[in-house]
Amino acid sequence: MFRTICTFARFVRIPTSTLLRQGGVKCWSIGGASSFTRGFCDKNHGGIPPCKNQGQAKMVEVHEGVRPLTWLLGQWESIEAKGSYPNTNSFNYTETLKVTHLGQPVLNFYSETWLEGLPFHDETGFIKMKQGTSRVAYICAQNIGLVEIEEGELDGTSIEFIPEEPSVLRTSFGTKALGATALKRTFRLDSEGILEQIVYMSTFKVPMTKHLHVKYKKRDTANL
Ligand code: HEM
Repeated sequence: MFRTICTFARFVRIPTSTLLRQGGVKCWSIGGASSFTRGFCDKNHGGIPPCKNQGQAKMVEVHEGVRPLTWLLGQWESIEAKGSYPNTNSFNYTETLKVTHLGQPVLNFYSETWLEGLPFHDETGFIKMKQGTSRVAYICAQNIGLVEIEEGELDGTSIEFIPEEPSVLRTSFGTKALGATALKRTFRLDSEGILEQIVYMSTFKVPMTKHLHVKYKKRDTANL
């Protein structure tokens, strides 16, 4: 049955993310050190669609350049997510954070949040490492019209990403995006397998202050 679904998905070129959003199927599961690449072509002619070989996903190992970050890989679901900011009512929200790789020296991530049951703040980007060092970069685009870059040092299973100057760029419109001037983030995996992220933000009016605190549990995608 799984084989039939996967063959069909490749034939009609359904992206992995769509399959996972719709419940997922075993052969497309994510989250381990091994992962499926997106469709590729082995005929060495570019493989750019339309190519009849496109869609033949293959298993790849995590690239050695980001192997120290393997602990971040997976489909994480919030078990507790709280937000606050000066002069703002504190709030609870939910989040899913997918961290994947395609065998390249970079991790890809996609975070979706819901506030009061409705889609709210989304982010997507990449996490890279400077080869031969513990320097890690966090590169992120947000649906509020803001892009950010922070860098930090990997310390076991924790990283503190500090804003680089300038750390954010904003669209010329959109009130929320206009407010933020810098972000700082910490990620930490504890011995119980709980991933924690804390986000600090400064605005034109408020110095660096905690905005978000989320704890995630890894979803077991192996038996989907
Ligand atoms: C890390 C990325 C984020 C940035 C840059 C950001 C930015 C901001 C800014 C600039 C404000 C206005 C602060 C003020 O008025 O002083 C704000 C408020 C707020 N944020 Fe965030 N935010 C982020 C993530 C989130 C997430 C993930 C949620 C919840 C899912 C959230 C929910 C809220 C709420 C409820 C408010 C207060 C009401 C409002 O202004 O809409 N934010 N945020």
